[in-house]
Amino acid sequence: MEVTLAKTAGFCFGVERAINLVHEQIDKKDGRKIFTFGPIINNAEVVKELEGKGVYSIDSVEQLKDIAGNVLIIRSHGIPKFIYEEAEKWNLEIVDATCPFVKKIHKIVEEESKNGKEIVIIGDKNHPEVKGIIGWSQGKVTVIADEKEAEEFQTDKNAKICVVSQTTFNLLKFQYVVEIIMKKGYDTCVIKTICNATQARQEEAGRIAACVDKMIVIGDRHSSNTQKLYSICKELCTDTYYIQTLKDLDIANLQDAKNVGITAGASTPNNIIQEVFLNVRGKKL
Ligand code: F3S
Repeated sequence: MEVTLAKTAGFCFGVERAINLVHEQIDKKDGRKIFTFGPIINNAEVVKELEGKGVYSIDSVEQLKDIAGNVLIIRSHGIPKFIYEEAEKWNLEIVDATCPFVKKIHKIVEEESKNGKEIVIIGDKNHPEVKGIIGWSQGKVTVIADEKEAEEFQTDKNAKICVVSQTTFNLLKFQYVVEIIMKKGYDTCVIKTICNATQARQEEAGRIAACVDKMIVIGDRHSSNTQKLYSICKELCTDTYYIQTLKDLDIANLQDAKNVGITAGASTPNNIIQEVFLNVRGKKL
């Protein structure tokens, strides 16, 4: 059996940076406790491992007062502006692990909305990254998830609009949605904020899935970029399996395959990917 592991599988730049920032804080051992706002990255295994090292996550503004005077690391997906302001009130040292690509969207949204533009975010309104982005706008924001919502989108005919996207949005779908919005004739500027890491992963996953019998996508169930990799692969290879760790994989399903492809989301640790890769190739770790 030939097994192809995607070169882009695993931690992206932003996730790697966030994890390194957490470890820097752990190594300081200055007596203060370390908290993250929301899970630092979307991977339950990593979050569990960090809990073992004393790093816990909080998920509401109300909890900030309970951790006053300690260290608060901002998750890679980012948070709304008002949470920074609240955290400062409680004498927390803020370590910002927001991915710089997400930070760039915060700046665009803050700037453009300050200049009177309406913001349109192409993405999933329930995703923490999108919730964070919304929280940097000073005016009206609309979140559009797909072509149908783009068709339904309406606003004041004199409105000036700035369109951005969630970093992990599917590139092709983004282009379709933008086309629909542009046809409406509003004064619109579009800033493509899908990150390169996402784009490269999606393209490579698609290339591999198109020429294998079976495809494995590894990542946390809640990871948006892994879910998108899965749907891209599933369209091109019917036998695509979505697993979190090796435990979820039934190797028997791969018996009759001549070629198997493997990819992983941007928040999947390398040890999990290697364990799956070696087991699929018939070598146990
Ligand atoms: Fe950042 Fe892109 Fe990763 S936005 S966290 S480099 S997927």
